[in-house]
Amino acid sequence: MTLSIHAEEYGVSPKGEAVQLFTLTNAQGASASITNYGANLVTLFTPDRQGKMADIVLGYDALDGYFTNVPYLGATIGRVGNRIGKGQCKIDGKTYTFVQNNGTNHLHGGLEGFDKKVWKAETFETETSVGVHLDLLSEDGDQGYPGNLQVRTTYELHNDNELTCEYTATTDKTTILNMTNHSYFNLDLENQKTILEQKLKINAEQVTLLDQDQLPTGECLDVAGTVFDFTESKAIGADIFTDNEQLNIGGGYDINYILSDDSTVLKEAAVVIDEKTGRRLTVKTTEPCIQLYTANFLDGTLSGKGRSFEKHSAFCLEPQHVPDAPNKPMFKSIELKPGDTYNSKMSFAFDTIV
Ligand code: GLA
Repeated sequence: MTLSIHAEEYGVSPKGEAVQLFTLTNAQGASASITNYGANLVTLFTPDRQGKMADIVLGYDALDGYFTNVPYLGATIGRVGNRIGKGQCKIDGKTYTFVQNNGTNHLHGGLEGFDKKVWKAETFETETSVGVHLDLLSEDGDQGYPGNLQVRTTYELHNDNELTCEYTATTDKTTILNMTNHSYFNLDLENQKTILEQKLKINAEQVTLLDQDQLPTGECLDVAGTVFDFTESKAIGADIFTDNEQLNIGGGYDINYILSDDSTVLKEAAVVIDEKTGRRLTVKTTEPCIQLYTANFLDGTLSGKGRSFEKHSAFCLEPQHVPDAPNKPMFKSIELKPGDTYNSKMSFAFDTIV
């Protein structure tokens, strides 16, 4: 096997733009396919302990699934991932209003977030990796956000079975930015209807508590001894059905973990193990937090890749800053100022256990 990049026509966007699908394959035969419609991750084939490749992310059968994509499968999220309360915040002293597409909240960048835009794609190859750069100009006023934002998403599949995803951006006016990737993983998608038996470890000692609108209250909870404690590897389903106010708000895990190491270096945030296939996924990030979401809003009405998307059929581990940070000054700011460069990187490394 050698490194390869395969580009194909994938269809036409609702606005009439031609869309491509890029399949990156590494020297071990693992592959990732990405479309420049929304910079969405469409497939991720990784080996099990016998070396058999299988896709481990939920996705649709064709491009048009991504046009609505209410659950944000595989999506590149921006400008601001997660929720902005009442769809409003102040930037440089001025109040900005964003579409309320989640009750009264603004969610995942609005109705036409980054996952609904056609990005300009350019593939590249190094000695040990293959990748695709995706570039987008999000204009001043896009979805209500200030500033012309030039943003780049780079997916890179490395020979050592690691998929990295890096975001960079610059702006000409102060704006807010909190990008993430919203892939839905199931390490045994072929055989396990839910991820409840897959074991998760998160390197976080605290979560941000939620109000009834799924916005952080501003308070943090120590996870030790609670259903949110994943500091030791534990089945995702071990405590998920506990009658717990914070779990009930999201219908399962849908909460932001504050990483124990919140530095901007790439550090391990979470590890998921599937004992049946032997697959292990290690998530690293430069972000201070990671959202754990156990696909609580999936209800079987959507389908793709030969299966319907059922509740808890996948997990998302979305590196990011604290949700609603623009309205919660106790948390790290997500402002980006002219002259500064936004940079965020995540890594999904996959190997197997014996
Ligand atoms: C995030 C949110 C969830 C939900 C999903 C998309 O993970 O935290 O509440 O909105 O996105 O369905």
